[in-house]
Amino acid sequence: MPRVLVVGGTGLAGRAVTAEAVERGHDVVVAARRTPDDDADAYVPGAVYVTTDLVTGSGLEEAVDGADVIVDASNGVGRQAAHVFAFGAQNLLHTAARFGVNSAVLLSVAGIDGSGYAYYRAKAEQERAYLDSPLETRVVRATQFHDFVTAIFERGRPFGTLLAPSRTRFQPIAVADVARVLVDAAEGAGEPGVRTVAGPRIESARELAEQWKRHSGSRRPVVPVRLGGALGATWRAGRNLAPEHAIDGIGYGAWLSSRAA
Ligand SMILES: NC(=O)c1ccc[n+]([C@@H]2O[C@H](COP(=O)([O-])OP(=O)(O)OC[C@H]3O[C@@H](n4cnc5c(N)ncnc54)[C@H](OP(=O)(O)O)[C@@H]3O)[C@@H](O)[C@H]2O)c1
Repeated sequence: MPRVLVVGGTGLAGRAVTAEAVERGHDVVVAARRTPDDDADAYVPGAVYVTTDLVTGSGLEEAVDGADVIVDASNGVGRQAAHVFAFGAQNLLHTAARFGVNSAVLLSVAGIDGSGYAYYRAKAEQERAYLDSPLETRVVRATQFHDFVTAIFERGRPFGTLLAPSRTRFQPIAVADVARVLVDAAEGAGEPGVRTVAGPRIESARELAEQWKRHSGSRRPVVPVRLGGALGATWRAGRNLAPEHAIDGIGYGAWLSSRAA
C-alpha cells in the first residue's frame, strides 16, 4: 500500500482523511505543528504523527521522507492563510520533489476563481503552486462543510441570535464525504487537474439556520445579515454553488441527525 502523508491531518478535514486512509489500510503519516496526545479527539490510531511547520520548514523532510502521495488539508487563519497557502505550499512541494514524492491531492474551495476575498486569492495561489509543481496533482474543490455553515449561524450567539447571511445559498457537504473523495484521488482516481465536489442540496442560509435552530433547540431568532466585503459578494452571486457536481452524500439534515445519534 502506498504511504500517504496527510498535511494538516489534525484539522477538521484532515482528521477525516487520516481516518479514511487508515481504514483503507494505507500507511499514514500526519504532519501538523502540534501533534495530538493519543487520547485526543484529533488522534487517529494507526497513523504516525510528525511535528511539522510548513512555513518555517521544520520537520518537513522527516514528514515527506518515504511518502508516495501527499494530501494537503492544511489551513491558515487571517494573515497566516497567505503564509500557509503560498510559502507553505512552496516549501512542501520543493521538499517533496527532492524526496521523490510522486503525486499530490490538494483540498481547495469551490468558487474561488476571480473572487476578491483575500483567503480565496491565497487558495488560488496555493492551487497554482501545486498545478505548476512536478508532482502529479489532483485539486479537489469542495463546497462549504456542514460544520462551517453551522459555525456561521453560531456567530450570532454573542448577540442572542442565529446569524444567516442574506440572499445567500449554500450547498454544504459532509467532511466524511469530502474525505472519501480525497482518498480516492490519493489512490489515483480521476484525471490530474481540478475537480469540484458539492453537497447533495442547495438551500438558503435561512432554511439551513432554521434546521440548526430546530436541531439544537435554540430559542434565538434567525436574523438575516448582509455580509459585507468580497466574501459576501462571492456568496450572493452563487459562486460557492456547484449543482452539476452534487454528490449523493450526507445532506445537512441527515448530518444534524447523525450528530444527535
Ligand atoms: N471549512 C470549509 O467549509 C471548507 C470547504 C472547502 C474547503 N476547505 C479547505 O479545507 C482545508 C482544511 O480546512 P479545515 O477547516 O479542515 O482546517 P482546520 O480544521 O483549521 O485544520 C488545519 C490543519 O492545518 C494545520 N496547520 C495549520 N498551519 C500549519 C502549518 N504552518 N504547518 C503545518 N500544519 C499547519 C493545523 O494543525 P496545527 O495548527 O497544529 O499546525 C491543522 O491540522 C482548508 O484549506 C480549507 O480552505 C474548507
